Amino acid sequence: MSAEPIISFRNVCKAFGPKVVLRGFDLDVYKGETLVVMGGSGVGKSVMLKLLIGLLEADHGTITYMGEDVTKMGPDGLRGVRKRVAMLFQGGALFDSMSVEDNVAYALHEHHAKEMTPEDIAARVDWALSLVDLPGVQDMKPADLSGGMKKRVGLARAIALHPDVVLYDEPTTGLDPINTTRINHLLNGLKRAISVTSIVVTHDMNSAFAVADRMAMLHRGEVIAMGPPDHFREPSDPRVADFILGRAPEHEDVETLLSG
Ligand SMILES: Nc1ncnc2c1ncn2[C@@H]1O[C@H](COP(=O)(O)OP(=O)(O)O)[C@@H](O)[C@H]1O
Ligand SMILES: [Mg+2]
Repeated sequence: MSAEPIISFRNVCKAFGPKVVLRGFDLDVYKGETLVVMGGSGVGKSVMLKLLIGLLEADHGTITYMGEDVTKMGPDGLRGVRKRVAMLFQGGALFDSMSVEDNVAYALHEHHAKEMTPEDIAARVDWALSLVDLPGVQDMKPADLSGGMKKRVGLARAIALHPDVVLYDEPTTGLDPINTTRINHLLNGLKRAISVTSIVVTHDMNSAFAVADRMAMLHRGEVIAMGPPDHFREPSDPRVADFILGRAPEHEDVETLLSG
């Protein structure tokens, strides 16, 4: 880890109408690490990732990528960030009408149309699909793929850009244990193969422990615990312990139901 974080959230606040999602949220991510952000459903994990790439605007605070404040960037600046920071969306977010090839090539056309030839793009797509262990599926449509394969195509689309940072939103949610393990191995393999920095958002504890260099726990809009995985194996904070051990946060469930 280098001294300067590659990504920093400082005192970030985000509300939707009366609903406050993030309040004074702080987080640092260091180059080359895999940081896992855990937290219950609706706690603001996806919102945090979307703020970082400018798909949502913060109400307050700063979010820096390589020292530049994303919250102050215009469309060109944000395009630059999205070229370097790729997001694997919850559910994969593949375009159903497009082939796998066109899905994986999508961001390459968007960001590299000038410098890459069609042959370069096809070669990059082949490379990305073989890294996720899906060679030869270029002509298939998302509807022909299993859930686990869709996640891997989404991952191929993210890494095709040769990003510095990959944001994984619930990469294993909805997968069976075998496909979950496969994705965990892929995340670890990619870190070695392309030395990427990763933020992995998940509520799957097994997955979290399998991939994390550090972990952060998000609760009611703030980071309430942060540290190496060992820190989270026997947590003293009851809110963290409830989450790790899969105990239902009784009163909060009711609150979430009433407010959501
Ligand atoms: N675009 C939006 N408009 C209104 N509310 C939103 C929007 N995006 C997210 N929210 C709300 O913000 C809260 C956090 O959402 P999210 O970050 O998606 O949760 P999760 O931690 O499950 O990923 C939820 O209550 C959700 O309903
Ligand atoms: Mg989410």
